[in-house]
Amino acid sequence: MKTIPLKIGVLVSGGGSNLQAIIDAVRRHRIKAEISIVISNKADAYALTRAGKYRIPTLYVDPKNYKDREAYTRAITDELKNRGVGLVCLAGFMCILTSYFIKNFPLQAMNIHPALLPAFGGAGMYGHHVHEAVLRSGAKYSGCTVHFVDEGCDTGPIILQQMVPVKDGDTVDTLAKRILSVEHRLYPLAIKYFAAGKLQVVGKRVCLLK
Ligand code: GAR
Repeated sequence: MKTIPLKIGVLVSGGGSNLQAIIDAVRRHRIKAEISIVISNKADAYALTRAGKYRIPTLYVDPKNYKDREAYTRAITDELKNRGVGLVCLAGFMCILTSYFIKNFPLQAMNIHPALLPAFGGAGMYGHHVHEAVLRSGAKYSGCTVHFVDEGCDTGPIILQQMVPVKDGDTVDTLAKRILSVEHRLYPLAIKYFAAGKLQVVGKRVCLLK
């Protein structure tokens, strides 16, 4: 009997290096799934070009065409639902969606964050702002976190984390680069576990089934 593969939808806003890591893992059959759609809130996101190279369907959904965040969230959510998406991956998606999205994808949406949550997360903590805050704090370690998306901002159950050292003389760019290369390994791994049905959520704890 042939099983229907998991359909992944990826939401992006920028360069899409995490999207690339996911594409590579799917193409190498490390993740048993297919990428059905890549959606961006930015017309010029390089992530859309990356997806196009592999003939993955792409969609630019312009926030300006919607009266508010709720209407925008509904448009994106309905698009994902209509395509039968079973896992949504936020990969550098710099937009906050409303609870309509979470209700439609409960424990079926993941995000990657470039720090060790619950530290250095929350409103305004994205991209270089995160690394700036880490450097200001004097922390010796940062890292990245893959977590399920819940109603809060960066508060959902943590799936995987990896520490990355903050080195003397680091700048935002050097730290971001060191963390990004770890993100590229961690995100596909979390998706692989999800696709294989190996993640079990008990309260806030995500357990990895053998
Ligand atoms: C990544 O570092 C990701 O962790 C971060 O944006 C970057 C996107 O890079 N996401 C956030 O800050 C979300 N809070 P990419 O477009 O090359 O994948």
